[in-house]
Amino acid sequence: MDYLKILKNKQLNGEIRISGAKNASLPLIAMTILAKNNVSMKNLPKVADINTLLKLLSNLGANIDKQEHCVVVNTTALHETKATYDIVKTMRASILVLGPILARFGHCEVSLPGGCAIGQRPVDLHLKALQSMGANIQIKGGYIEATAPNGLQGCEIIFDKITVTGTANIVMAAALAHGITNITNAAREPEVVQLCEILNASGVKIDGIGTAVLTIHGTNGSLININEFAVIPDRIEAGTYLCAGAITNSELTITSVEPKHLGAVLSKLEEMGSTFTLKEDSITIHPSKTIKPVKIVTQEYPAFPTDMQAQFMALATQADGVSIIEERLFENRFMHVSELQRMGADISLNGHTATVNGKSELSGTDVMATDLRASSALVLAGLVANGETDVHRIYHLDRGYDALEKKLGNVGANIQRLKE
Ligand code: EPZ
Repeated sequence: MDYLKILKNKQLNGEIRISGAKNASLPLIAMTILAKNNVSMKNLPKVADINTLLKLLSNLGANIDKQEHCVVVNTTALHETKATYDIVKTMRASILVLGPILARFGHCEVSLPGGCAIGQRPVDLHLKALQSMGANIQIKGGYIEATAPNGLQGCEIIFDKITVTGTANIVMAAALAHGITNITNAAREPEVVQLCEILNASGVKIDGIGTAVLTIHGTNGSLININEFAVIPDRIEAGTYLCAGAITNSELTITSVEPKHLGAVLSKLEEMGSTFTLKEDSITIHPSKTIKPVKIVTQEYPAFPTDMQAQFMALATQADGVSIIEERLFENRFMHVSELQRMGADISLNGHTATVNGKSELSGTDVMATDLRASSALVLAGLVANGETDVHRIYHLDRGYDALEKKLGNVGANIQRLKE
């Protein structure tokens, strides 16, 4: 296995190009199940989760032509409708094939994704919504067995909780359903917006895009033509590198980014003392005299994203004062805390709230990544820790960050990928 060796940094300097969004790419790849043509996707990130979902589609019979950052997917020859445990266990977002396969074929089996490091992460809301649309859902031997022999029927759906992949799953199911589906309490994340925009441009009329109430006019089972598109930039990757700039007090420009997707993140960084120069598709963060403490509560978009919580915790260890970080979406998303504490961070936990007493002098040591975003928090801490920080189990990082060590190395970070 690989690990990252990081030495304390002076400041960073230069430009980092942001890759396409992992969390936009995954539903968009699943969306190709609804298409009757070759679907060409550009600006795909080179990350493990994308390869996993493409492998799943290939196992189902899709034809995949993958280049470096783009792919052409043809699902017209799809003949399998079972997403097996061996793949789903490695990437829970495989659940995204459930809605489209069920809508297209009238039956689908998907291994239950099971929990993951950050929480139990049930899919009950996905299943309840599909049942409302007429699906018969059974759980057998760890698999979701879904049938809808007469196709799915449009209906009123109210999500008890805002669910990102739940919204995407139901939007895709509703796209081929008979009649109109209204989703209330829908997720408004940019990744869901792009899925809706592309479906809408492909003949699936969707009203309310970007709002919490989506109205999807189903095609009554007709497959759609999807024109070539480019995946939106990854706002979480962008936020992570902005935190790298803030924690090392650097002048850093991130390019190929959509600033309007980062409102809550930029606002919190400003509260912590950062200043920015924003252009149409770039953000420059400027050095600040000190890092101020902050209060953060993670919530659904457009509020502060849970996927940035760990990175801000690393930054908060360098703030002059006490920061409070409350994690409201996942029940176990503080596993980076113990690793940061081992580096010398002064953090105390009380339920879902972390109190970070800064500024801590961090010391490099061996640390272990536990989940995708925790990994990036440990890299950020390593940039300012005295001595050498070795981040192990970075297969977590490789799931969602495209060439992180190269991108940071290109702006002056002393970071190497080595073999254990
Ligand atoms: C998506 O996960 C993202 N993953 C996650 O990013 C992100 O953290 C999360 O949304 C929240 O923004 C992808 O888009 C592939 P949810 P998702 O359904 O859709 C509960 C990363 O780091 N819930 O919005 O699985 C759930 O337990 C990953 O890139 C139910 O109770 O998250 C959680 O508490 C990590 N029942 C809350 O809702 C359900 O059926 C939000 O989950 C579904 C969800």
